[in-house]
Amino acid sequence: MALLNIKNLTVKFATATGSFTAVDGIDVHVDRGEVLAIVGESGSGKSVSMLAVMGLLPDTASITADEMTYDGRDISNLSASERRTLIGREITMIFQEPVASLNPSFTVGFQIEEVLRLNLGLSRRDAQSRALDLFRAVGIPEPEAKIKAYPHQMSGGQCQRVMIAIAIASNPRLLIADEPTTALDVTIQKQILDLLMKLQEDYGMALILITHDMGVVAETADRVVVQYQGKKMEEADVLSLFENPQSPYTRALLSALPEHATGDRLPTVSDFFAQETAR
Ligand SMILES: Nc1ncnc2c1ncn2[C@@H]1O[C@H](COP(=O)(O)OP(=O)(O)O)[C@@H](O)[C@H]1O
Ligand SMILES: [Mg+2]
Repeated sequence: MALLNIKNLTVKFATATGSFTAVDGIDVHVDRGEVLAIVGESGSGKSVSMLAVMGLLPDTASITADEMTYDGRDISNLSASERRTLIGREITMIFQEPVASLNPSFTVGFQIEEVLRLNLGLSRRDAQSRALDLFRAVGIPEPEAKIKAYPHQMSGGQCQRVMIAIAIASNPRLLIADEPTTALDVTIQKQILDLLMKLQEDYGMALILITHDMGVVAETADRVVVQYQGKKMEEADVLSLFENPQSPYTRALLSALPEHATGDRLPTVSDFFAQETAR
């Protein structure tokens, strides 16, 4: 049985100009301990589909699905208290903008300790020592000093490490990482990805990694879902996807990798579609 199983998920937004379908009948599942990459260009509905799972979409979203289960349990209609015991504990999520995800008015230590006290019921003292352990686990240097820092006193990479520390605090069985390195410098991106992969292995978590970068997919994923304009274009294990992509859209994403570049400019997906239609 899959850990998370989503069938025929559709998300529509009510907008001033009518209803807009952001996710159009997508199936996604992830098994225990598995790394699933969801890849696609900006706007393809990657974030919206996972925010729907987390119950984090605004009221303007209408969500339907034939199945939405976690560990065999229906999660489409949880009460607020059921949702709180699941989301933020068993399933956690980290976002693209680490600095914006932290509250600028409080120290990072206060923020992680709040989560530990509220979500895990730890005492203040236990929360403090657990926060230090977590800062060490995510490779924050001088954790005793850093725990007293405000977000603006830390680099983007360090803020993302704090967010990761918060996300793994409850020992989740599923971590959803939504473009966790996109906002970071290239050199830091690899460190954060390596950290996520190490934690995924150490904790035996399932990881859903949302990315627009096929290079990231190649380095991390067991299985890949390729998404375009709210629809699933292709799903395959990572080796098959790279060796024998079935969808033209997947081939377009692959051709945008630097090693396939010709000339002085990287080809874009629209270049590729132009070639396909010219044929
Ligand atoms: N709250 C919202 N209201 C209306 N449209 C939205 C909302 N959130 C996202 N969208 C739209 O849904 C589509 C998918 O967005 P998103 O899932 O964020 O894309 P991705 O994560 O793949 O870049 C986009 O066209 C986006 O503009
Ligand atoms: Mg997104």
